[in-house]
Amino acid sequence: MQSLLYSIIEANRSWTRQGKVANYIPGLAKANPEALGIVLITTDNQSYAAGSHETPFTIQSISKILTFTCALMDTPFAELSKIISLEPTSDEFNSISSLEIKNTHKPLNPMINSGAIATLSLVKGDSYAERFQRVFSFAKLLTGNEALPLNQDVYASESRTGHRNRALAYYMKSTDIIHDDVEELVDAYFRLCSLQVTCHDIARIGAVLAGNGLLPGSETRVIPKDICRIVKAVMATCGMYNGSGLFATSVGLPAKSGVGGGILAVSPNRMGIGVMGPALDEKGNSLAGIKVLEDLSKRLDLSIY
Ligand code: DON
Repeated sequence: MQSLLYSIIEANRSWTRQGKVANYIPGLAKANPEALGIVLITTDNQSYAAGSHETPFTIQSISKILTFTCALMDTPFAELSKIISLEPTSDEFNSISSLEIKNTHKPLNPMINSGAIATLSLVKGDSYAERFQRVFSFAKLLTGNEALPLNQDVYASESRTGHRNRALAYYMKSTDIIHDDVEELVDAYFRLCSLQVTCHDIARIGAVLAGNGLLPGSETRVIPKDICRIVKAVMATCGMYNGSGLFATSVGLPAKSGVGGGILAVSPNRMGIGVMGPALDEKGNSLAGIKVLEDLSKRLDLSIY
């Protein structure tokens, strides 16, 4: 396994030069575009690593999995369904119009920004400081990393430049999807995007989902099995944004990307996979990271389809 990972990283390193590091948040632009790393953690807690697997990056949208999972654990599904859909597209099977001109205010799914902001309002807590702590502690539990840091530089630039996220939140407040203080809500969202992780951290989150909620190599349940099933299904359909369909055909695993360059993928009942490569494709997904996952999926026959 170890030599397979080395060879996959080497074979795909040149793809890093085809992508671009995210620069819409100044703190993100400092990432090394040539970094490429991978960690696999099996459900029985064997781990394998290659490439820049110790290079830190911010979790970004991968945190949406954690927020969604907490929201599912803290809020009855019927309540959650009132404010958020779980659909990859809003178009009906014969639709010729787009979402914007339809009468739907609910965010399409929890893997996009509006959806993640709305799901954060469903996490248990009397304040957004408490809701942030709830998801942050959950992140520490799943990664097994008690020292999980927050990247203050990325958080500050995220907060300074995040006007589109504020706009989404204010819009959803105007349509009664959220009811809380928008500034406090988006601040917690910005902090969660700025958690600093490595491939190991995200692979371990993936391993918990792969093991249907058990911490790797243990019988300790930290997520109900049914909730893992919902999270993986939504990752499989929506986790790679508007690249989810193609990713399903080429890799075939539930996954979630972030603009920090991370991709967390889950091979159900087998392993969690954490990949990092900050040079992104035009959809905001790690370009070389997807290539690495394509090779790995082919070599180990991982596609669930
Ligand atoms: O909301 C934002 O702009 C980011 N902090 C998170 C976005 C993200 O990771 C989108 N990803 N691919």
